[in-house]
Order: sequence, then structure tokens, then C-alpha cells
Amino acid sequence: MLGLTALLTATTMTAQTPKLSADFATPHSDLKLRSENIDEVLKAMTLEEKAQLLVGGGNDAFVGSGAMMGHQKKLVAGAAGLTVAIPRLGIPATVLTDGPAGVHIDPIREGDTKTYYATGFPVGTCLASTWNTELVEQVGQAIGNETLEYGCDVVLGPGLNLHRNPLCGRNFEYYSEDPVVTGLIGAAVTKGIQSQGVGVSAKHFAVNSQENSRTKVDERVSQRALRELYLKGFEIVVRQSNPWTIMSSYNKINGFYAQGYKDMLTTILRDEWGFKGIVMTDWIEKRADLPTEMEVEAGNDLMMPGYPAQAKDIVEAVKAGRLDIKYVDQNVRRMLEYIVKTPRFKGYQYSKPDLDAHAKVTRQSSTEGMVLLKNNGCLPLTPSKKRGDSEAPSLLGEGGGRGYTVALFGVNSYDFLSGGLGSGCVNVPYVVDMVQGLKNIGVKTTPLLTEIYQNYVKYAKAKLKADKNPMMWFLDQGQPKLDEIEISERCVTHELREADAAIITIGRQAGEGVDRKIDGEFNLSQMEQDMIFRVSSQFRAAGKPVIVILNSGSVMETCSWRDRVDAILCAWQPGEEGGNSVADVLTGKANPSGKLTMTWPIAATDHPSTKNFPQDMDMYSYREMKGWGRGIPNEDYTNHEEDIYVGYRYFDTFQKEVAYPFGFGLSYTTFEFSKLTVKCRGNLVDVSVTVKNTGNVAGKEVAQLYVTAPKGKLEKPAQELKAFAKTRELQPGESETLTMTLLKRDLASFDEAGSQWITEAGQYLFKVGNSSRDIKLTAPLKITEYTESVNNVMAPKQALNLLKQK
Ligand code: BGC
Repeated sequence: MLGLTALLTATTMTAQTPKLSADFATPHSDLKLRSENIDEVLKAMTLEEKAQLLVGGGNDAFVGSGAMMGHQKKLVAGAAGLTVAIPRLGIPATVLTDGPAGVHIDPIREGDTKTYYATGFPVGTCLASTWNTELVEQVGQAIGNETLEYGCDVVLGPGLNLHRNPLCGRNFEYYSEDPVVTGLIGAAVTKGIQSQGVGVSAKHFAVNSQENSRTKVDERVSQRALRELYLKGFEIVVRQSNPWTIMSSYNKINGFYAQGYKDMLTTILRDEWGFKGIVMTDWIEKRADLPTEMEVEAGNDLMMPGYPAQAKDIVEAVKAGRLDIKYVDQNVRRMLEYIVKTPRFKGYQYSKPDLDAHAKVTRQSSTEGMVLLKNNGCLPLTPSKKRGDSEAPSLLGEGGGRGYTVALFGVNSYDFLSGGLGSGCVNVPYVVDMVQGLKNIGVKTTPLLTEIYQNYVKYAKAKLKADKNPMMWFLDQGQPKLDEIEISERCVTHELREADAAIITIGRQAGEGVDRKIDGEFNLSQMEQDMIFRVSSQFRAAGKPVIVILNSGSVMETCSWRDRVDAILCAWQPGEEGGNSVADVLTGKANPSGKLTMTWPIAATDHPSTKNFPQDMDMYSYREMKGWGRGIPNEDYTNHEEDIYVGYRYFDTFQKEVAYPFGFGLSYTTFEFSKLTVKCRGNLVDVSVTVKNTGNVAGKEVAQLYVTAPKGKLEKPAQELKAFAKTRELQPGESETLTMTLLKRDLASFDEAGSQWITEAGQYLFKVGNSSRDIKLTAPLKITEYTESVNNVMAPKQALNLLKQK
């Protein structure tokens, strides 16, 4: 039999140069993989080949270091990883690229004159804030098309982890604190991507709710919170959109590594939900404390990025009888089923994606994802009436006016953050900043301030590059946040003379491996507060509006300063067309219709999870490298004491004041909700509501359906979102009737004692509104009991005991 060392020597073979050694040539040299002969190919594979197929072919970071399988040269520069090729059986390597906000590959390549920039789409929070599944599906189609045309087979997204706490460093990649929003947006993006003949990898399965110690932390959480919250979004995506692949997360759940947790990866994911694709691990080396064979048996089909030692483990475990070959065969079969679907297997002829068309898609989605948090009437921007100028400014510089001019403060006005840091960043062809976006729509910026900031940005970027901290690997993986510059009273006085309005951009950056701090990240820094104070005192005294743009992928503190400004627009990290989208919204070219998919608390500590969330992380060092394993709370383990009371489930149930509630977002028009009907149809519940535009400009509105359950055996949150629907653009006076259909199962809670989903019998209250705190209509409906037994797995035995001891 061919030894593993010999096999690895053959790793220099590439998919393009299938020269076979004599060892490989017998006895099935003519057999080549087809979708109809998977069984036959499986039979023909040696144990070593099977083991190799279950272990990835390395990633860019390591190719060349010799550490990885490296079964072929990298096929797409900058892609996150590869599966191995077995040329003798016609099994090609397949390529996995990062997402989720676009394809993450190297844009410029040695010896190649072509460029490979990818469209920067809005980050997860912005995309979800559209509440528009059709639009999100279109974004998915565009991402899928770029994945395909750039030679990749799977894009590593969508990110489906919940916003358990606003401080999580990767919240920007995820959609919401609510599993229904997460699931429906995730399913829409999955359908869009997979419509292009490539796959997704829904990640990170599951409870990867913090970055600190992410590869080892034990998330201790009840079965109920797991089922109702942390697994729910994945369940919706699996049931509604058949993702090709799922990525198992780094962390432990109730004492077990997710990557070796058979109860989750097989019992729940496959047996209960019917998942048919492959599970791959998140990118990690062979673990010392998790045997590779356990991962295989658990249903982890692919170890990524893949180390030779893992393939060796599989071979040895089978030979020693520690791993039943049936698990290897089952996972290999699933790998082959995946491979035959890929463009690379099908020999797709790649061409260049249409980046111009995709720029339009991203612009539409970023515009629709922006959330107007405050507007005292100054938006959309209109020429100031109070200035008393003989020559009145015209917004678009038309009609003889001298043109509307704004003073743009804040470094991120000039270095607009299109996306976050780490694997989730996209190498975009350009980013439209605020100056450019406003200019494109005919609004000028004051020249001196613009020049000062633009020069500073150039200087600060060059300096950052020169001072590069070797620990900050992600500096090359996105736009780092530059320091602010101090804005003096004199500077404001000067700007006031020239500008009709002030716009202040507050930027925040975040990324992989690092959670956010409260001071200076969730909260404003002293310099930012001073900037707002100084600009607002002078501009508002002169009757000129002050508008704040939040260029942050995540939630921020607003209550301490919001009274000082006239309008706040949360622009998130909206992708490459961000500046154009902000300008469209500010000037009324687009009417904002984004709604928050998470609660904005008054203080970060208002979330009950904050006390069990890492907060003292040193920004540029990984805590897990320093003495992990000493029983440190929120590092070695994290207790989910808040249980199911995450986000609005907590704030609404316990009636806590918030800065902006879940589902909130302003419009330039008004809507009226009427004719709410709720009817049972067997195991379905049909809900319909009519939305009318009662204002003066066209706009879209989101109908959010919350349900309050009757008092029963199980404790319940005050209300839970069960569905939502968005209108088309309604002209003034126009109406649309929206319908939403639920399963009775969707109303169920998880009953741990009976290990079942249960919708208790009784009168349910169906409530439609445009935020969790603005319910417009309610309708009661009697529902009969519904139950569904599931496996009693993933209980926090040890964790609960520990909690009890506290
Ligand atoms: C991240 C994943 C990513 C993978 C490949 C990991 O560190 O957690 O989200 O897809 O790397 O880059």
C-alpha cells in the first residue's frame, strides 16, 4: 500500500499536471469521478486518499511554508483554502474564498497584468438592516457571480452568529440579535449565491459570540437558548436554502469543541434538520486536545485549512480500530457529492465579472441598509432659509444659486470605512468617501478643511504602514481606523463662515480576533465628544444643521451626545459605494428605509450579557496566547446567565429604556398600518396587513410581526419577532397589502424537560409595528397545542453545576 509519506511526496502534482506515479496507476486507472459513479470512485480510493480528501490543501498564509498538504499550487491567489486534488480519479482541487461581504482574494498578482478586485458589498449589519430579502438575494447573486468568475467554488459566508453582546468584534459580519432576521436574511443571501452554481459556507456553527479566546472558550449555555437563539438562524438557513457547506466554529459549547460535537454536527444538523452538505472546520491547526478521529466521527467532513498530521491521524486511527471506516466513507462520499457540484469539477470557463453592474447592486443595498436614527427636520438637506443671503444656496448648485456647501468633520469622512478587518475584508477597486459622494450629487465641501483632512489621511496611512506592528496581521486585511485630529474652536469658526451645514463622521473599525472595548469604541472618545460639542455649539447657534454619520459596523453609544445634533444617520460599513449612498439619503434622492436589527442600548452595560463578556482585551494581542487554561471567566469559559434574554427579548420583557429599539428607523414620509388579519390554516398561520404611504414622498416601510404568547407552563419573553415583510416603493397615497405565513411550529418554545418544541394552546397576540416599541395593530388568535419531540442533546451538565456553585 502507498505510504502517506510517498503520497505526500506526490503533493507537488498539480491539478493541471496530472502525471501519475506507478503506485497510483492500478487497478482503476481509467476511473474518473462523475456525478453518477460516486460509489465506484469511493470503492477505488485508498485509505490514504480518503484521508487526504477529508483534510484541506492548505491556505495562502501557509503555502510555501511546507506546513500544509499543498496538493497543488494555489489556484486563486488570496483565497482562504483548497480541497485536495486526486488527479488519478479525476478529482480536482476546489477553492474556498472568504466572504461574507464580497469575495476576498488578492487583487494584484505577480506576473499578471490583470486585476482581480472584488465588489465591496455592505457588511452583515447593513445588509440585514434593509429587511429586504429580495434585495439581499440580488446581493447574493452578485457575490455568487464574482465567486464563480474569479475561479472559486465556495464563499465562506454568510455569518450567522447572533449579536449576543454589542462588544463582539465580528458583529459587523453577522446580521442581528434576533434569530428570525438572521435566518431569513441568511437564507436569502444563500439562495442568491447558490443560484450561480457555487456554494456558501454558513458560519460559525455555533455560539461563536466573542472573539477573545475564540478558539478555545467554552460557551456555557442552556439547551433552550441554544435551540431558540444560537442554533435557530442556522436551522432556518438549512431548512430554507440548502447551504452546500457549514463551517463549525472554534469554540466549545458546554464543554465540547463544536468541531467535534456529534450531537450538534450530526444529530441536530443532519438528522433533525436534514442538512445534506459538508461541514468544514474553521481554520485551525491540528488540536492537541481534540483527536482528529473525533472530528471525523462527529460529522466534520473537512479539516481546514488542512495539515498533513491530520490526514496521518485519520489513517492511523482507522488502522488502530479507533475510527470506524464507515465514518470516513460517509464523509468522503459527502465530499465527492460536493465536488461534483463545483464549477471547477464541471470545467467552467471563467470570464471577468461585471463589476459595474455589481456596483449598482451594492449601492442600492447600502442605501437601503442605512438607518436614520434622528432627524429634527433638517433632512433631507435643503437650502438654509435662515441665512438671509441674497444669493440663496441651491442644493444641487442649480438655478443660479451658489451651491450648497458643507463642512465635513471627522477623519472617516475622508477615509470612509467600507468594511471590517480580517478574513471578512474585501479588496475593493475603490471606496467612495463622503467628499466624493457629496460631490457626485452636487454638494460642495469647504476647501480648506477638506484639504487639511485629505493631507492628514495620506500622512497617517503612510505612517501606519511604516510603524506596522507585526501582531497586526489584519492591517493588510482591510482599512484600519486612523486617529482623529483635534478640531479647535477657531477651525469651527472659520468653517461656519463658509458652510451651510456641518457633517461629522464618527468611524469605528473592528475585526477578527479582537472584541470591542467600551471606552473609545462603543463610547465616543473625548476628542470625538469635543468635536461634536464645538461644531454643534457654533453651527446650531447660527441656525445651521449638524448631522452625524456613524460609519461603524456595530452599535455605538448615542444618548450622551444626540441632543447636540440635528440628525444621525447610521451608515454602517456600507461597502465601496458608501459615500454615494450617504449622499443619496442626506439629499433625499433616496428615502431611508433601513431598520435596526439589534437594540441600541443607552450604555453597553445595560445588556445583561456584558457582565459575562470579555472587556479588558488588549487590542493587538491575543489573550488566548497568554496562559490560557487557568479558569479565567470569559476567557476559558463564558456563562450565558442571561439565557434567552438576549437583545430586545431582555429589554422589552424587563421594560428597560433603550437608546433606539430593535426594528427602529426613520423615513422622510409617514405610513399608516391597517386591516390586520390573522387566520389559522391547518398548521399554518396567515397574517396580512395593509401599509399606506400617508406622507409627501415615495418610500418603503417594513411590517414587523411580533407575537406575545399566552401565559403557560414555560416562561416567555414579552414578545418575539416571528416574521417581517417590506413594501415596494410606495408613492404618496399608495398602499400595499403584505402577507406573512408562519408555521405553528414557529411559535414554539423549547421545553428542556420534555426535550420538545411546544406551542402551548391559548390565545396568542399578533402585533404588527415598525419597531419592537412601536406596535401599530394587534389581533388575537386562539391556537391549539403543537409539539415536536427532538433529541435531548447538548445539555450544559458541567456548566450548570458550576453556575449553581457560584
Ligand atoms: C475565520 C473564518 C474564515 C477563515 C478563513 C477564520 O479565522 O474565523 O471566518 O472564513 O478564517 O479565512
